Amino acid sequence: MNAVFPGSFDPITSGHMDVLTRAAKIFDHVTVTVMHNARKTGRHLFTLEERLDILREATAHFGNVSVDSFGGLLVDYMRQQQKGIIIRGLRAVSDYEYELQIAHLNRQIGEVETVFIMAATRWSFVSSSMVREIASYGADISEMVPRASANALRRIHADVYAEREAEKVETQLRVDGELGERA
Ligand code: PNS
Repeated sequence: MNAVFPGSFDPITSGHMDVLTRAAKIFDHVTVTVMHNARKTGRHLFTLEERLDILREATAHFGNVSVDSFGGLLVDYMRQQQKGIIIRGLRAVSDYEYELQIAHLNRQIGEVETVFIMAATRWSFVSSSMVREIASYGADISEMVPRASANALRRIHADVYAEREAEKVETQLRVDGELGERA
């Protein structure tokens, strides 16, 4: 059985990776599909091409995962390409209501089934939007996203990360200096 893991992936997080890893063990093949809407291009931090590049790098180690994109209704994509099942990740109960509504909708308009996969609890607080927010202040996001996403976020906010690094070095030099004086 094949499956599609759809989303915005702006960018892919460790929670997404966890769900994908579990899905890849259950299904024969999983397509990670960036759903995009040409009328809403300004809403994202990364362009569609950038998100696809990050996804390709982050999923390269899977033998049964491919990356794709589609600019339309998810059910049309599923039907046109005979893609099987939709996979959606659940982090917490708060995700459930929204996801339930979409799953019912997709079954109503496209007769497509959705399978939910629970992300590990350690990712319950991680979302692309939160990661984008804290990365814009130069926070350490290395645990929350795969390396490809972290590198892309650090590139976009290179000046903020450089400033943080300089502050860290300055603090370390001051601490070392104070310790040296005391010795
Ligand atoms: O990562 P996200 O933003 O939670 O993903 C939501 C997504 C892209 C899967 C959903 O918005 C979607 O399927 N969009 C395509 C348009 C569509 O089919 N809409 C009807 C269901 S909301």
